Amino acid sequence: MVTPLKVGVAGLGTVGAALIAQVARQQEALAARCGRAIEIAAVCARSKAKDRGIDLKKVQWFSDPVALARAPGIDVFVELIGGAGDPAKSAVEAALASGKSVVTANKALLAKHGVKLAALAEKHHVALNFEAAVGGAIPIVKTLREGMAGNSFERIYGILNGTCNYILTRMEQDKLPFAECLKEAQRLGYAEADPSFDIEGHDTAQKLAILASLAFGTKVDQSAIYVEGISSIAPADLSAADELGYRVKLLGVAVKTQKGIEQRVHPTMVRKDSAIAQVMGVTNAVTVDAEGINPLTLIGPGAGGAATASAVLSDIGDIARGVRTAPFGRPAALLRSVRKAPMQRHEGGYYIRLLARDKPGTAATIATRLAEQEISLESIVQRHHGRADSDAKAGSVPVILITYATTEDAVRKALAAVGRDRVISGMPQVIRIEKN
Ligand code: HSE
Repeated sequence: MVTPLKVGVAGLGTVGAALIAQVARQQEALAARCGRAIEIAAVCARSKAKDRGIDLKKVQWFSDPVALARAPGIDVFVELIGGAGDPAKSAVEAALASGKSVVTANKALLAKHGVKLAALAEKHHVALNFEAAVGGAIPIVKTLREGMAGNSFERIYGILNGTCNYILTRMEQDKLPFAECLKEAQRLGYAEADPSFDIEGHDTAQKLAILASLAFGTKVDQSAIYVEGISSIAPADLSAADELGYRVKLLGVAVKTQKGIEQRVHPTMVRKDSAIAQVMGVTNAVTVDAEGINPLTLIGPGAGGAATASAVLSDIGDIARGVRTAPFGRPAALLRSVRKAPMQRHEGGYYIRLLARDKPGTAATIATRLAEQEISLESIVQRHHGRADSDAKAGSVPVILITYATTEDAVRKALAAVGRDRVISGMPQVIRIEKN
C-alpha cells in the first residue's frame, strides 16, 4: 500500500485554514487523482488557541517553522508565512536542504531569492512549487512552464492584483472614492498587511518577475521592472477612459522587444471590448501572446483563501504523484540575466490629462510642444466645468489628449516643455495605452 504524503503547513492565516479545510473535504478525490492520500500531519502558527474553524486535533504543533521544515515525519513543507526574509526564507531553505519538497505562495520570497532556491531544490532533487504565488486559482505557472513548454513567448500581460482591480472596479462602477474602496478590499481579506504594497504596484511587480522568468527563461529580477501604482488615478480618468472607449486597469506587462525585455507595471488603458477589460472586482487575468497562439487569456479568482488554497493543493498533488519540474521551467543554471529594455524607449499610445489655463493660445502651445517631439494626436478633448472634472480649478480647463504611438521619452520631454511654458497647473496625468 502506498503511504500517505505527510504535509507540514507553516502559517495558518486565511490561506492555511482554507487549505486544511479543502484537504479534509477533498480527501477521497485527492487520493484517487494522485494515487496516494494526502495528510496534514503538522502545522506551525503563532496561536494554538485561536479558533480557525478547522479540526486540528490530530495534527502535531510546532512553534518554530524551521523545526517543522526539518521534522522527520514530514514529506512536504508548505510555506504560507509570507515575506522575503526570515522566518519564511530560512524555513524554506531548511526544508529543501533536508530533502523535502516545498510548496509556497510566497511571491516576495521567489521574486528576491527564486533563482537560489530553485538551485537548492535541484541540488537536493526535490520540488519547489509555487502556483499560488501568481494569479490565485489561475494555473498560469503550469500553463507557461508545462502547458506551453514548446512555445516561444512574445508578451505576457495581466491583472495580477485583486485589490487594485477591486478598487478600480468599484471606483468606476459605483463612483466611490479610492479610500473607501481600499478599506472594503482590506475588510474582504484581499489586501496585503501593508496595502501600499498592493496599490503602489509592488505586489504586481513580484508576480510579473516570476511570470517573465517562466516565459523568457531569464533570472527572476524584480529590479528590472518599472513600477507605478494606482494611487494617482482620479475619477476623472475613469470617466474620460469610459467616454473614449477604454477602461483603466493596473497591468503587469513583460514584452520581448529588439532592445531587450521590457517589464513594467502601471495603470493602463485597455480597449473596453478586449477580454482583459471585462475582468472586474478581485478577479485576475493573464493574457499570453505566443507565436501562433495569440492571445490566450486565463481569467479567475486571484486572491482570498479558497483561490490560493486551490493552487497550493494542486502543487501538493503534483508532489504526491511524483511529478517534479525545474521550478522556473529550465535548470536554474540555464536562466539568463535579463537584458532590460529602457523604459524611456517604451513605444505606445498615451492618454494625457492636463489642467490647462483657459486663455487663447494654450491649446496651440501644447500642440506645438507635442509636435516638436513628433507626437501625433489621435484626439484632443477640452472639457467644460461641471462635467466629470472635479479637479478642475477656476481659470483652467481639463484637456485630454490621446496620442498615436510614440515614445516615453518624447512624452516626458513634451510635457516638461509644456510645464516650462506655464500653460498648465498641477502635474499632468499620463496613462499608457496597451494594444490588445
Ligand atoms: N494582495 C494580493 C491581491 C493577494 O490583492 O491580489 C494575492 O496575492
